[in-house]
Parts: sequence; C-alpha cells; structure tokens
Amino acid sequence: MAKIGLFYGSTSGFTEKVAEQIAELLGKTHEVDLTSMEDIGDLDDLLEYDNLVLGSSTWGQGDLQNDWRDPYTEMDDADFSGKTVALFGTGDCDKHGEHFVSALGHLYHKLTERGAKVVGLVDPSGYTFESSLAVVDGKFVGLPIDDINEEEKTPARIEAWVKQIEGAF
Ligand SMILES: Cc1cc2nc3c(=O)[nH]c(=O)nc-3n(C[C@H](O)[C@H](O)[C@H](O)COP(=O)(O)O)c2cc1C
Repeated sequence: MAKIGLFYGSTSGFTEKVAEQIAELLGKTHEVDLTSMEDIGDLDDLLEYDNLVLGSSTWGQGDLQNDWRDPYTEMDDADFSGKTVALFGTGDCDKHGEHFVSALGHLYHKLTERGAKVVGLVDPSGYTFESSLAVVDGKFVGLPIDDINEEEKTPARIEAWVKQIEGAF
C-alpha cells in the first residue's frame, strides 16, 4: 500500500479541519502521515514522499497561506517527477470570489512545471465564484472547500473527492 504524506497550511484552523477529515477517510485505504506546514523543517520533509496530498487556504489577493511561502520558493529547485499529488484548499467564494482558492493554482503550476502528476481535478459547476487561478482548462486543479458560505456541502465534497483520489495513489 502506498504511503501518503498529507501536508497543510492553515492560519485559523479551517484547512486543518479539512485536512483531518481527508486523513481520516484516506486512512481507511492508505497509510497517511498528517503534518502541518508550520511543523516541517524544509521542503525535504515533503520530498520524502512519492504520494502527496497538499492543502492551503488562500490569503491576501489569491496568495498561498503563510507557512507555504518558504517551501514554495524552495520548490524552484526541486524535482517532482514520479510524484503523484492531490491538492485541496479552503477559501471564501463570496467575499473573495475574484481569487477563490487561487492558492491551489500557484501550487499546481509550480508542481507540474517540475514534473508532478496532479490528480483529483474537480468540476467547477457546483461552485459560485467570479474567478480563480485554481481553474485550469475548465477544471479546479484540486478540491475547493468553502466552510464560510457552504459548510453544509463540505462533508459530501470531501467524501466524493477522497473516493476519486484514493485509487490514484
Ligand atoms: C484577509 C483575508 C484574505 C483572504 N483572501 C482570500 C482569497 O484571496 N481567496 C479566497 O478564496 N479566500 C480568501 N480568504 C478566505 C480564507 O481563505 C478562508 O477564511 C479560509 O478558510 C481560511 O483557512 P485557514 O483558517 O485554514 O487559514 C481570505 C480571508 C481573509 C481574512
């Protein structure tokens, strides 16, 4: 069974809660190591894994969560070929609908440019937002969660997405 490194950056706890729920569900079929980006040493902690689930909330004007900043820069020199990555993130589609979960877009481009295979794309038709860097070729490049405006949809979204990605690892 493939071991999965699940890393998340969370400022006020929303993404952490989602990460825990994903870890619990994915843990039924895979061995999952759950780590906050606050607690990693450097990017090497991620690169130990060939299977990754990475989560970030979006801050500022479509930026990555703070704990991702240095590792994101370190990614410039990293090789992700042979790695399978699934992305998830939280955001606010109402107040920040013009940059909804855009952090996932930043991660997606950096990772795929360095050889990663990204799995777990999501159809945007179930979401209401203005624009997002996380939509590439008509799909979200990972799982968007909005616990501020659409909390009632979160459990089903997570469950469906975990089912979608579990076979890819
Ligand atoms: C100052 C500020 C800026 C934000 N910017 C964005 C944004 O650009 N896009 C977005 O989707 N959400 C944005 N959000 C919403 C957060 O991403 C959302 O509250 C998220 O769930 C926080 O997750 P965390 O507690 O795990 O960090 C912003 C929130 C604040 C307070």
